Amino acid sequence: MTSEFATDPQSLVAAASADFALCKDAVALANCKAQYLGREGQLTALLKQLGKLDPQAKAEAGKALNLAKQAIEAALNQREAQLAQAELDARLADEAIDVTLPGRNSSRGGLHPITLTIERIEAIFRSIGFAVADGPEIEEDFFNFTALNTPENHPARSMHDTFYVDLQDDKGLPMLLRTHTSPMQIRYARQHPPPIKVIAPGKTYRVDSDATHSPMFHQFEGMWIDEAISFADLKSVYTDFLRRFFETDALDVRFRPSYFPFTEPSAEIDMRFATGPLAGRWLEVSGSGQVHPQVVRNIGLDPERYIGFAFGSGVERLAMLRYGVGDLRQFYDNDLRFLQQFKR
Ligand code: DAH
Repeated sequence: MTSEFATDPQSLVAAASADFALCKDAVALANCKAQYLGREGQLTALLKQLGKLDPQAKAEAGKALNLAKQAIEAALNQREAQLAQAELDARLADEAIDVTLPGRNSSRGGLHPITLTIERIEAIFRSIGFAVADGPEIEEDFFNFTALNTPENHPARSMHDTFYVDLQDDKGLPMLLRTHTSPMQIRYARQHPPPIKVIAPGKTYRVDSDATHSPMFHQFEGMWIDEAISFADLKSVYTDFLRRFFETDALDVRFRPSYFPFTEPSAEIDMRFATGPLAGRWLEVSGSGQVHPQVVRNIGLDPERYIGFAFGSGVERLAMLRYGVGDLRQFYDNDLRFLQQFKR
């Protein structure tokens, strides 16, 4: 039964299915649908022709058109479902997580070896009752030199190659980058009554740069003043510190006579490992001495009553010895291959 229409309903179904298949998205499909099922659509046009047929032919043709309409709608639904599925697949592929890829590490930083070393020094001194203090790196001439018994024109000033900054203190003297942590002796002791028992680690600056000197380096100052603190106490405290710092008793310490304006007597502290790659070599690790009576006076105490010791040690030196680092500049090159070895 085909003859009643210009177009055969079956071939209309085939054409519609083929057109639907070519539609790439929902908009194209809606346009396609209108061409067949819309008010001006091809199937609608056939339905309009039904009225001209006689009742017998009309019933048969109507049935055929109905079936064709159902078939076209089914093809449309199927294509709609296909496109929806394709869109979902594409989105999933787009947002896919490959769980087999290595994770993106949130990289965790670590403390710098010098910071680790300072923390270790602080922990050891805290455990024997020392406070830890901090002070300015841009310092006044008075605290860096004068109060430490190093007045202007004192030859000891030339022991330090000082960085001056473009600022003046209230005496009109140029401010400077502290050349040692010793000014903390004065600053701390002026604010804390005896017993004074403190270490003060921090940055220091000198015009100096080679494999064992950096223009910025770290020291830690130590001071213990009370009514009867002797050189013997200095020897035991410092020797005990070194043995704990290096975690070995196989280590000798000697106090070699020296000169500092703020101590009398003064000594360089040398140490020597009994074992390991550096065994047998004396290594200088600190300056030290009995606090000079004039310094005791400068902090406002009576040197007839108060006495004690002080020391100033290089942090980088101790870190190099502990970690086996040969060139001090490595601490400041910021090469991650170097720094990561200290990560805990
Ligand atoms: N301030 C000295 C320096 O940087 C080191 C020093 C020596 C500190 C003797 C002291 C000390 O406290 O008593 O070279």
